[in-house]
Amino acid sequence: MGLRDLIVMDTPVPSLRGRVVLITGAASGIGKATALAAARNGARLVLTDLHADPLEAAVGEIAAAGGDVLYHRAGDVSDYEWVAAFAREVDAEVGVMDVVMNIAGVSAWGTVENLEHRHWRQMVDVNLMGPIHIIESFVPQMVRRGTGGHLVNVSSAAGLLALPWHAAYSASKFGIRGVSEVLRFDLRQHKIGVSLVCPGAVKTPLVGTVEIAGVDRDNPRIKAAVGHFEKAAIAPEKAASAILTGVRKNRFLVYTSFDIRFGYWWARKFALPYEIAMRVANDRFSRLARVSAATAEVDAASRR
Ligand SMILES: NC(=O)c1ccc[n+]([C@@H]2O[C@H](COP(=O)([O-])OP(=O)(O)OC[C@H]3O[C@@H](n4cnc5c(N)ncnc54)[C@H](O)[C@@H]3O)[C@@H](O)[C@H]2O)c1
Repeated sequence: MGLRDLIVMDTPVPSLRGRVVLITGAASGIGKATALAAARNGARLVLTDLHADPLEAAVGEIAAAGGDVLYHRAGDVSDYEWVAAFAREVDAEVGVMDVVMNIAGVSAWGTVENLEHRHWRQMVDVNLMGPIHIIESFVPQMVRRGTGGHLVNVSSAAGLLALPWHAAYSASKFGIRGVSEVLRFDLRQHKIGVSLVCPGAVKTPLVGTVEIAGVDRDNPRIKAAVGHFEKAAIAPEKAASAILTGVRKNRFLVYTSFDIRFGYWWARKFALPYEIAMRVANDRFSRLARVSAATAEVDAASRR
């Protein structure tokens, strides 16, 4: 490797025009917004999602807007056999991908005494093993073809920072960060760029469906806290735009909002204040959990 190659890497996908792009989680939120934006930029799409009807609706919307969906199929990314079969179909029908985007994901929060085994399992199965299944089934063909490409993995602010109640979610999101950090260097020799996307709050159905183990979501204090999170949330279109810029500019860390860029910079520069801020945040969350538990107790007693 020459000195130039050590220092710079030519951007593998400077434009999406005519490029074949696989997107998981394409039926909703960030995945759907990214599919629509990529189609507007001239990408040819291969789309998948767990849910068939919303996926059909997304494909219809993209086609109505003049976008090009080459292939789509509903399935579960946490099921390796399904992903491998899907990849064989895509290989046969479409060929090798130029860009692979792991966007599908789920979220569950809770303290260790409230999280159930199924929460830990689902986070790791969907958010970590899902992208791994997609990577192992689609990226080797890109390597063998030898003309480069790009891999996008959506992590989270919870893949950078130790947010309260995020142990199970962070297990998956720090995990995919580790995979991405290694592949960033492994795949460089094959002219394949890697982006790790770390969104903060994004206004998508995920915010409404996130399971908070052991907490009554109808409790007014909890509702207010979720409302606060929603108020700070950005539109999925903004996240999509950051992702596409990340690909076009071959950026490794892709932030979708300034708060997380600043928070992560701050955490790295000021270790002790970061620890204190996290202790305060944990204390606040614990108080919230106690309020919710107390209200649930009063409700149960009044029903008895
Ligand atoms: N919304 C946020 O505030 C936020 C913040 C940080 C990170 N993220 C991450 O962004 C990604 C997209 O989330 P979103 O907010 O757009 O949520 P969303 O719920 O709107 O979309 C997620 C999509 O993934 C699909 N999906 C879920 N499980 C699947 C499975 N097993 N196989 C295939 N598809 C599956 C869902 O059907 C859904 O269409 C996720 O990885 C999430 O962890 C979201």
